[in-house]
Amino acid sequence: MLLVVKLGGSAITDKSKLFFFREQRAELFARELARVLESGRKAVVVHGGGSFGHPIASKYRLQEGGLTQEKLLGFAETRYWMNELNQRIVKALLRHGVPAATVQTSAIALAEKGSLHELNTAPIERFLEMGLVPVLYGDVVPDLSCGMAILSGDVIAAHLACTLRASALIFLMGSGGVYSKPPGTPGAHLVRELREEDVIDVGDSRGVDVTGGLRQKLEYAFKAARCGARVTIGGVDYLWEMALGVDAPYTMICVSGMRTP
Ligand code: IPE
Repeated sequence: MLLVVKLGGSAITDKSKLFFFREQRAELFARELARVLESGRKAVVVHGGGSFGHPIASKYRLQEGGLTQEKLLGFAETRYWMNELNQRIVKALLRHGVPAATVQTSAIALAEKGSLHELNTAPIERFLEMGLVPVLYGDVVPDLSCGMAILSGDVIAAHLACTLRASALIFLMGSGGVYSKPPGTPGAHLVRELREEDVIDVGDSRGVDVTGGLRQKLEYAFKAARCGARVTIGGVDYLWEMALGVDAPYTMICVSGMRTP
């Protein structure tokens, strides 16, 4: 059984504070993932950029493409900070005995007009066969028509869930799931089952976000659910429950004709 876990930037960084890594949340994630792997499941991890990726990409407006010297510096700087965040996450996983091995997204992905064009999954599949846990991330990548583009981890995770025929796709977010209104606003409650026709107020994500925030996440969540994966959105605290299909406070993405766990 293969799980794809998207570790949102909001779950492991404070998106309103530059380069603020939430060490304890990363530790909890690593501990919970180790527990999940003990159940015999395999996993691919895709993490987001949080306050290591979005502010740098936004400073150079990389989401608009381009290939000037300034943009190339922005590309390289974004790659540097994503690598830094990746190292910290992988280090936490190693501390908990998870054989996490990075597969650098920009080396295997191509975009076209800002959308994912091609992702070479061969290195990921090889790592999985060996028993490793491949770790990818949202990244700045070459774009065939506009020079460069930002690919969010949500897009990569949903794509992998479909192409690798994962049984589950788990989105981990700082907020702990999808709320009827932005969390913290009066009357906001956790939506336990979300259908495409349901109307929710997604609000604005905190801090800088160059990849479309919750709205885009939901679009890809439904896409993966239609591929047959059990898609859930929740907090790091309930990773084990989401992975094993145990009921807990998280959001389940519901599409008609869905497979049961
Ligand atoms: C963004 O990835 C990557 C960069 C900005 C380089 P995501 O869009 O997946 O990041 P989060 O989860 O929203 O932080």
